[in-house]
Amino acid sequence: MATKHTTATLTIDGKSLDLPVLHPTIGPDVVDIRKLYAEGDVFTFDPGFTSTAACESAITYIDGDKGDLLYRGYPIEQLAEKSHYLEVCYLLMNGELPSRLQMEDFERRITRHTMLHEQIHYFFRGFRRDSHPMATMVGVVGAMSAFYHDSLDINDPSQREIAAMRMIAKLPTIAAMAYKYSLGQPFVYPRNDLDYAANFLHMCFSVPAEPYHVDPILARAMDLIFTLHADHEQNASTSTVRLAGSSGANPFACIAAGIACLWGPAHGGANQACLEMLREIGTVDRIPEYIARAKDKTDPFRLMGFGHRVYKNFDPRAKVLKKAADDVLGLLGIGDNETLKVAKELERIALEDPYFVDKKLYPNVDFYSGIILEAMGFPTAMFTPIFALSRTVGWISQWREMLNDKNQKIGRPRQLYIGAPMRDYVPVEAR
Ligand code: SDX
Repeated sequence: MATKHTTATLTIDGKSLDLPVLHPTIGPDVVDIRKLYAEGDVFTFDPGFTSTAACESAITYIDGDKGDLLYRGYPIEQLAEKSHYLEVCYLLMNGELPSRLQMEDFERRITRHTMLHEQIHYFFRGFRRDSHPMATMVGVVGAMSAFYHDSLDINDPSQREIAAMRMIAKLPTIAAMAYKYSLGQPFVYPRNDLDYAANFLHMCFSVPAEPYHVDPILARAMDLIFTLHADHEQNASTSTVRLAGSSGANPFACIAAGIACLWGPAHGGANQACLEMLREIGTVDRIPEYIARAKDKTDPFRLMGFGHRVYKNFDPRAKVLKKAADDVLGLLGIGDNETLKVAKELERIALEDPYFVDKKLYPNVDFYSGIILEAMGFPTAMFTPIFALSRTVGWISQWREMLNDKNQKIGRPRQLYIGAPMRDYVPVEAR
């Protein structure tokens, strides 16, 4: 537990400014610098926000040193073992675990919104079949604001609620449609008799030509992956959603912005990049070559799925996924999967290497997730779309919290200007 500081004094050229210290429920104290520019005529400088709290939040807490992750106070390990994704959605959005009746009502409302307006199918037709599904999702989710006009007014709580329900319910349908479209197969409608994870597998893998049976092992693994990716404090894509929302942009535009940000290989795109890296390594004997590249400052190569801005210990999600990878691949009869062997040996070697130990680089959520998703039959291009649909509830919960925040105002960072001082225009003849 961090010691409780009382005041912070900043002295600049002999002039002292007392800054209030704010205290969290758990975690580091926060120095409130909101009056710093007005009273001290200086900015702070923190590219990448390594030491900056951008907001108050009660949704998710991460202790990077201990490797703790709490959703509304509940440890991710307990939720992964005892809960399920839609219950976690209710928890993240409402702050408390639902009663049985509340859960039944929530699940019924989500189920009733899983279908897309039939005309949205035409949006897909404008994309090339070989488009990355993330490109399709950014486009279609953003285009939902051209459709669902009765859920655009962010100042109307009932419209915010229906927009939230629609996105939690429809993102799996959109992701599955993006996948089907890339295959040239017909879209598969959601089924109200299936649960959330089973429905997604059904929409991805069933075809009209024959019956499709959802394997309960895969459905459980799918639900677990959704839960583990649901929220993660103020990560890059969540901060993007908050910043977009702070301008008053409609909810669909904000979530589309979050999807776009998540796509980057340093963030949610790492699950695809990690599996491609493991495939490129290919066999255990080639691991030292890649460890050396990761340590070589002249080589841009990084171990994908390794390292984290906050975790300086094991990402607790990686621990759960490592066990799930063993369980799922074992139950599927592919426990001797070469990619899994390479991943485990890569982890073992890296965690004994001083470079990774000293820099506190551990496997993160993206290190094992791809191995499970590949075993379930998904192509690597679908890994980040699955991360995006899972994280939609986190983005929406954080977006709603931002709109209800009494301190909320448009996000507008300043800068350290290093460009040219004011100067007069020079006519071309004189240049
Ligand atoms: C996610 O923020 C979140 O919560 C994100 C996320 C979520 O749920 O929303 O957890 C999901 O994005 C997980 C991270 C997925 N990304 C990857 O796996 C890509 C590989 N990892 C990195 O690129 C990196 O570790 C980051 C981007 C994740 C974190 O980067 P930071 O915090 O800016 O750290 P850094 O780049 O300053 O690295 C610190 C040092 C550097 O060496 P020095 O310059 O100090 O000598 O560690 C090195 C880096 O070169 N380093 C790595 C490395 N990651 C960091 N070296 C080799 N391989 C790596 N993977």
